[in-house]
Amino acid sequence: MEMVATSCPQFTGLRPTLHNARSQPFAQHSNSQLRLSSSRKPCRPVVAMAGSGKFFVGGNWKCNGTKDSITKLVTDLNSAKLESDVDVVVSPPFVYLDLVSSSLTDRIEVSAQNSWIGKGGAFTGEISVEQLKDIGCKWVIHGHSERRHIIGENDEFIGKKAAYALNEGLGVIACIGELLEEREAGKTFDVCFQQLKAFADVVPNWDNVVIAYEPVWAIGTGKVATPQQAQEVHVAVRDWLKKNVSEEVASKTRIIYGGSVNGSNCGELAKQEDIDGFLVGGASLKGPEFATIVNSVTAKKVAA
Ligand code: PGA
Repeated sequence: MEMVATSCPQFTGLRPTLHNARSQPFAQHSNSQLRLSSSRKPCRPVVAMAGSGKFFVGGNWKCNGTKDSITKLVTDLNSAKLESDVDVVVSPPFVYLDLVSSSLTDRIEVSAQNSWIGKGGAFTGEISVEQLKDIGCKWVIHGHSERRHIIGENDEFIGKKAAYALNEGLGVIACIGELLEEREAGKTFDVCFQQLKAFADVVPNWDNVVIAYEPVWAIGTGKVATPQQAQEVHVAVRDWLKKNVSEEVASKTRIIYGGSVNGSNCGELAKQEDIDGFLVGGASLKGPEFATIVNSVTAKKVAA
């Protein structure tokens, strides 16, 4: 069903109240080469959020840091001035989770980088959702490309872990994204939709899910997606949710971008209508730069 904008959306601050009139469907173009979604013209010169969720910025520290460097990072984050209209989360390595959650300001929530598919027990090397909650963790990342492509996790396993975490009350940052060869073969939407479907098939509800679109070729490479490339996939993901889950979920679920986001490129990316925040790797290891990325929410308030 093609939706055509017939009236100008009404905005209250950053929140559109009539966002359903804005999007063009992408799902039927899943085999096509990517192209600009230039058919959508803003009705007024204000950059707005297509979704109704709050801006969300996560810092994925990956397998980096020592007690000393992490203590300094926490000190920097605790003294950073962060815009209020942003959910901020950091994801330290497991061994420092307790240190971080007990010393970090309440303004920032803590995420794990992985969790087991079920209750704890005889699973050497694994960490259970119950243990994460016990130390104050609120989120967990699943489906990250490093776990998919280096560790070898598949959609089914990722889905199980996400479903268990959500059922037990953790928020899930659900990552999807295509390899360079998949993009070059025109399969970006196919890959992203398949990964998305694996989450959609098992999640109990979408209230605590944030989707992170992270093209694998952009992660840790310094080759950030252009704002248009990112926006194009984000709008396709939102349309997929609208068609396959519900309009409400499509509107409420945050779709954040990850892959070489830094203090210099975050502003232009944040201006894109369907980009609801970021998942940041390398640049999240520097407190002031991470704060700049969090505060890029202000770019959405600037006239286009
Ligand atoms: P990067 O990593 O910002 O270092 O590219 C992003 C991520 O892997 O989440």
